[in-house]
Amino acid sequence: MPAPTTEKKIPAPEPNGEATKKVNGDFHVTREELIDLLNEDLRREYQAVIAYVVYSQVIKGAEYMKVAAELEKHAGEELKHALIISKQIDYLGGQPATEPMPVKTSDKAKDMLKFDLDNETTTIAAYRTRVRQCEAIGEYAMAEHIRSILVEEQDHQIELATALGIDVPHNND
Ligand SMILES: [Fe+2]
Ligand SMILES: [Fe+2]
Repeated sequence: MPAPTTEKKIPAPEPNGEATKKVNGDFHVTREELIDLLNEDLRREYQAVIAYVVYSQVIKGAEYMKVAAELEKHAGEELKHALIISKQIDYLGGQPATEPMPVKTSDKAKDMLKFDLDNETTTIAAYRTRVRQCEAIGEYAMAEHIRSILVEEQDHQIELATALGIDVPHNND
């Protein structure tokens, strides 16, 4: 059954976010659409768990020892996020996905950190959109859960950018 048409809101533009793909920037989604989007988020969380598990162990070089410990900590946090997201999918009556997004590999420490940073930036853009979508359909508690994940993803992003010695990418630039 098609969702009832709601009043169109005009949110701030988000160049890197999925919002731009939505007609007129309308954040209204059906529950089925939200389940699919949360499953994309879940697959990105699995991807992050795998990447951090592997990179934290294979990254070499004295200058990266502190970073490796941080990556190991991220792995545990990403698993926590996966559990929170799968709980939301189940609550909406959906089936949590089982496949991760593809994980890139490299034997260069810098490449690994760059892959992680890019993934965090994509994840942050997706969750910012998800918060707005949850709120647009009155799922305020779900929006809060996703906000709490966002706080940690932004910490990950900052730590990776710092390790790479670059500025934190800004999704809204
Ligand atoms: Fe995460
Ligand atoms: Fe993260």
